[in-house]
Amino acid sequence: MIIGGPSSQLLGGRVAKILKEDLALCEYSSFPDGEAYTQVCSDFDDRVVVVCSTPSDRDIIQLLQILDVLRGRRIDLVVPYFGYARQDKQFAPGEPLSARAMAVAIDAFLAEGSRVYTINIHDRSILNNFRHVAEDLDAAPLLADEIGKMDLDDPVIISPDKGAVRMARAAAKRLGIDSDYLEKTRHSGTVVSMAPKEIDARGRDVVILDDMIATGGTMAQAISILRENGAKRVYLGSVHPVLTGSAVLKLCRAGVEAIIATDTLEKAVSTVSVAGLIAEALRS
Ligand code: R5P
Repeated sequence: MIIGGPSSQLLGGRVAKILKEDLALCEYSSFPDGEAYTQVCSDFDDRVVVVCSTPSDRDIIQLLQILDVLRGRRIDLVVPYFGYARQDKQFAPGEPLSARAMAVAIDAFLAEGSRVYTINIHDRSILNNFRHVAEDLDAAPLLADEIGKMDLDDPVIISPDKGAVRMARAAAKRLGIDSDYLEKTRHSGTVVSMAPKEIDARGRDVVILDDMIATGGTMAQAISILRENGAKRVYLGSVHPVLTGSAVLKLCRAGVEAIIATDTLEKAVSTVSVAGLIAEALRS
């Protein structure tokens, strides 16, 4: 039995189809005061797969509600987009490690033999907070394969900062093309410039790859820099298209050619599905 969380209904359905397993009918609505109402309407047995991204606080509550319904059972829990993962360090006294709080809260519901899967979580060390076996799956090869199908002119994959350099390198290696990252150079106390570290992007098609696009600020700046550096067309590749607020407008104004993302979050740009990746992990 596969249960798709409120923000992973399509992805849950895709995983169920690949695995030829039933997809549970669930109700996700609200009580009159706004509190979340969750009901798993289908019967389920002892082994259940839950696919539930948590892009909002409400998704987290509804995930905990689902896990409470399933308590005592062996669960394969897939959290494709793990909210609060970026709050994994304390930057000021009195701040929580919210990523740890999430993991501990989820973990409390999981019975012996349960497993947790995430996809390109912000930092894999977050998984150490689970008592159960937890594994991070890598969707970057799927994005690379999609990039490989595009008709690009002398392409190069660039990460917007050092954080995503490993992902950009791996994708470029898979395609046999160049990769680089944007490096910040401080010229004075106030003047900072950014440019590709080694590669001249002039006249080339560029794909900027990052784990997530949230406000779009990082990517919009990277697009502008690469266009100033003479890049021909600039595409964006991202595992998690959070795309909060006016992120898409920002990226369009910066001159993006197209955005390619996965369905860890179900948005209009989520054309690459991670369902096969999840199914493969669950089978193994
Ligand atoms: C940062 O660590 C991440 O890899 C992304 O670069 C960042 O979260 C993107 O955020 P935004 O779209 O708000 O600039």
